[in-house]
Amino acid sequence: MIQKFVVLWVFHLLQCGDITIGPTPEQPTTGAPPYPRQKSIFHRLNESHHIVYGGLDQTRKIMNDVFFISLKDDIKWVPMIIHGRRFPEPRTDCAHWMIDEKLYIWGGASATSLLSDLWVLDFEQQEWTKMTQSSTIPSPRQAPSIVTDGSTIYLFGGRSRRALQNDLWKLVISGNTGTWMLIEQNPTGTAPLL
Ligand SMILES: *[C@@H]1O[C@H](CO)[C@@H](O)[C@H](O)[C@H]1NC(C)=O
Repeated sequence: MIQKFVVLWVFHLLQCGDITIGPTPEQPTTGAPPYPRQKSIFHRLNESHHIVYGGLDQTRKIMNDVFFISLKDDIKWVPMIIHGRRFPEPRTDCAHWMIDEKLYIWGGASATSLLSDLWVLDFEQQEWTKMTQSSTIPSPRQAPSIVTDGSTIYLFGGRSRRALQNDLWKLVISGNTGTWMLIEQNPTGTAPLL
C-alpha cells in the first residue's frame, strides 16, 4: 500500500514540477523536480532510488537530462551531474532497460533521424559510454518493444523509416560490447502482421 502511494505521488510531481532546467549537455544546478514532460524514461535504480531520463517538454523539445528520485523517506529529486564529455543524441521512443543498476538505451528517434546506437549510463561513475555493437544490428527505428531477464535482452518490432517491423532480435551484453542475433526476420504462421 505504501509503495503504491509513493509511486502515485511521484507521477503527481512529474506533472506539477515547474522549475526550469537548462537543456543537456548543460547541467541543472539546483535540486528540483524536472519540469513537465511526456515520454520520459522511469526506472527503479536500487532499493532507495528511481531515475527519470529525458522525455519531451511542453514545446516538444527532446530532453537529455537525468534525475535521481529518492523514495526512501521524503521524496527528493536530485539532478544527476554527468561526468565525461560524451552524451547520446537526445531522442524519444528508444528501447531502454536496466541491468545491474545501469541504464541502457538503444535506437529511438532524434530530432532529425532514426537511430540504432547503444549507450549505457553508469550511475556510480555518472558517465555515458557508447557501446560497440556486432556487425549485424537491427535497422534504425523507434518504439521497439524490449524485454530482459536481467542478462539477455529481446527486441521486437518498432517503426523504421519505411515500415513497421515485426522482426525479433536477441542482444547479449558483455563488457562494453553488445552482440545482436536475429531470431526471426519475417515471421510466418500466426506471427503478428506488419
Ligand atoms: C542507490 O543509488 C544512489 C545513486 O547512485 C545512491 O546514492 C544510493 O546510496 C543507492 N542506494 C542503495 C540502497 O544502494
